[in-house]
Amino acid sequence: MLFPTTRLSRLRANKNLRAMVRQTTVTVSDLVMPMFIHHGHDIKNPIPSMPGIYQMSIDHACDHAAELYEKGIRSVLLFGIPAKKDELGSDSLSDEGIIQTALRRLKKEVPGLTYMTDVCFCEYTSHGHCGVMVKRDGQMILDHDATLGNLRRQAISHVQAGSDMLAPSGMIDGGVGAIREALEAESFGHVPIMSYSAKYASAFYGPFRDAAGGAPAFGDRRSHQMDPGNSDEAVLEASQDIAEGADIVMVKPALAYLDIISRLKTNFDVPVAAYNVSGEYSMIKAAAAHGWLDERAVIIETLTAIKRAGADIIISYHTAEAASWLK
Ligand code: PBG
Repeated sequence: MLFPTTRLSRLRANKNLRAMVRQTTVTVSDLVMPMFIHHGHDIKNPIPSMPGIYQMSIDHACDHAAELYEKGIRSVLLFGIPAKKDELGSDSLSDEGIIQTALRRLKKEVPGLTYMTDVCFCEYTSHGHCGVMVKRDGQMILDHDATLGNLRRQAISHVQAGSDMLAPSGMIDGGVGAIREALEAESFGHVPIMSYSAKYASAFYGPFRDAAGGAPAFGDRRSHQMDPGNSDEAVLEASQDIAEGADIVMVKPALAYLDIISRLKTNFDVPVAAYNVSGEYSMIKAAAAHGWLDERAVIIETLTAIKRAGADIIISYHTAEAASWLK
């Protein structure tokens, strides 16, 4: 038999037909590029565990944002590395904070991008935890009410500085509701919230903690991040966040949690975002540097898999390099 005769192989045999019947194609408009904004001037620090990714001061960040825009990228997610960390993470609340200052400059210089901002405290606190810590019975625990109050303040100051979408990443109970309430109260009700609803206590965040300097000085985040063995609670978390006012729910990390992306997509009628995190990026980069993988093919396959699982939005460090391939 010279020619294939099954229906599937008939469709696969022709390149144009293959493209026509392809169900999932990643486009640059699906992608969001994370950026690490460093205090100071003329700083462009390579992150050793994330080849190709830099901490940048605002001047370089503006140049980088312009390049991203040129490549067709339309959205970035900002993380801040402040000059000073303290117990409260005060920089994150200040109108003169690193993110607020960066937003004002970026919005002016590259107005065509949509700026999403990470709303959390772990990059700003001296102890590296995602809120205000207090001592109870000899143990350091999160002061929930104080943290919610500061979350409100941080959210409002981001929006006043120009944030187009808030991305609360701390998975603090009631955090989305508190931010939504604050937005309504300050006449910012139009601002969308993308909540890190299903954020797992994952070892894949390792390189990010080098990038943003956010490793907890004591303890860990297992009390509020999810156990990788669980999936029902992802549905519960997402439904709570949606009820509290989230517009987009996020799953993080992406690759080891494609089933969770798929579950949220089938369970809810809101867009699902997936965060293709630092460790997932670094694995591909490390293998490619050894010549063990075809880097470009693996990156496109990876992004396609995340979209196929159900992600409408993909936050990925591959965004900048992948943009030209996806055109
Ligand atoms: C917390 C935050 C983290 C990441 C995004 N937001 C770190 C953490 O939860 O420990 C990780 C992203 C990545 O690994 O790329 N502000």
